[in-house]
Amino acid sequence: MTIKEVAALAKPWVSGSAQPFVRIQSITKKFDDFVAVDDVSLDIYKGELFCLLGGSGCGKSTLLRMLAGFETPTEGSIEIDGQDMAGIPAYDRPTNMMFQSYALFPHMTVERNIAYGLLREGVRKAEAMERVADMLRLVQLERFAGRKPDQLSGGQRQRVALARALVKRPKLLLLDEPLGALDKKLREETQFELVKIQETLGVTFIVVTHDQEEAMTISSRIGVMNAGRIVQVGEPAEIYEHPNSRFVADFIGSVNLFAGHVTVDEADHIDIATPELEGVIHVGHGVSCSPGQELFYAIRPEKLRLSRARPDLPNTFPAMVDEVAYMGNLSIYRLRLPSGRHLNATQVNLSRHVEDAISWDENVWVSWDDNAGVVLTR
Ligand SMILES: Nc1ncnc2c1ncn2[C@@H]1O[C@H](COP(=O)(O)OP(=O)(O)O)[C@@H](O)[C@H]1O
Ligand SMILES: [Mg+2]
Repeated sequence: MTIKEVAALAKPWVSGSAQPFVRIQSITKKFDDFVAVDDVSLDIYKGELFCLLGGSGCGKSTLLRMLAGFETPTEGSIEIDGQDMAGIPAYDRPTNMMFQSYALFPHMTVERNIAYGLLREGVRKAEAMERVADMLRLVQLERFAGRKPDQLSGGQRQRVALARALVKRPKLLLLDEPLGALDKKLREETQFELVKIQETLGVTFIVVTHDQEEAMTISSRIGVMNAGRIVQVGEPAEIYEHPNSRFVADFIGSVNLFAGHVTVDEADHIDIATPELEGVIHVGHGVSCSPGQELFYAIRPEKLRLSRARPDLPNTFPAMVDEVAYMGNLSIYRLRLPSGRHLNATQVNLSRHVEDAISWDENVWVSWDDNAGVVLTR
């Protein structure tokens, strides 16, 4: 096999080589007149860690709850592992759900909490305890087996909840804001653990989060949601580098957005004029648009270069430095253009002492490559 073929196998959504494990087809959920989930169709493949990402109230949890069987779709169908889920109650589905509020039993030990579901299902005690021991090893809580939940940190409780959800060996684990209760640093550490555990077991995960950095870190693919709809599906880099709309560009990471119109429309390049820049924006590839069309141009702060000497790049504009925020690993520059428009630019701090770094009130050139930005028509 060629490297390309191997890569395609690892990404069935690219190769189309596998049947989707989860098939969501035209799912709508209404609460009275209110449409919480609006005609969502989505295929998710075995072994994926798929993130549903969107702001509060956009319908993420409702979609997840329909997969779990806690909510009945108003319209549409859900298939899991080739089986139609219509009419199948939550407890008969090959799924398990981990909630944000971990809902551990306070009076039971860690071990008991994890074993509870198995014992209730009638799994023999010896087998149950063996499976619990495996899970404790997996989430690295062997030493804490005898503790009660209130004797654990937030991160440890989160791992107990994960072990409890996984011990039943679901084919599909649904996680609703699984790291929501953790502080930032612990959250970042736990993200890697979650990915490691998911890869070890090969279980398909669908994770709901409103945190775009988290989604970028852990996902095989991301489905971005807005107002009940899925607005884009893609791998993290795809969503970041090729957002399909202003909404996605703005929601994922930070972006400088210009509104303008097409002045040159050629097969291999276009020019965009915007009242916010003197001169035009050169785009180094063709775009399906028409001359005069109104559209948008998005460029990420890290794609902008700053220099005192005028560089030889197709997009070069004068600017003044309004503010500099030193963030350690990088600096964020707030630039003001002659039109009064502001731009954000980030520069990586490679060495500890940057002699003669560009600073406040300096006149500089801001520039970018003609393929550094994205043209958006909506
Ligand atoms: N049981 C319910 N009854 C009425 N409205 C609901 C119910 N559950 C959710 N909603 C509404 O549906 C929308 C989506 O909710 P939800 O799926 O929880 O959003 P998210 O998880 O993305 O924050 C919200 O406006 C919420 O108020
Ligand atoms: Mg929610």
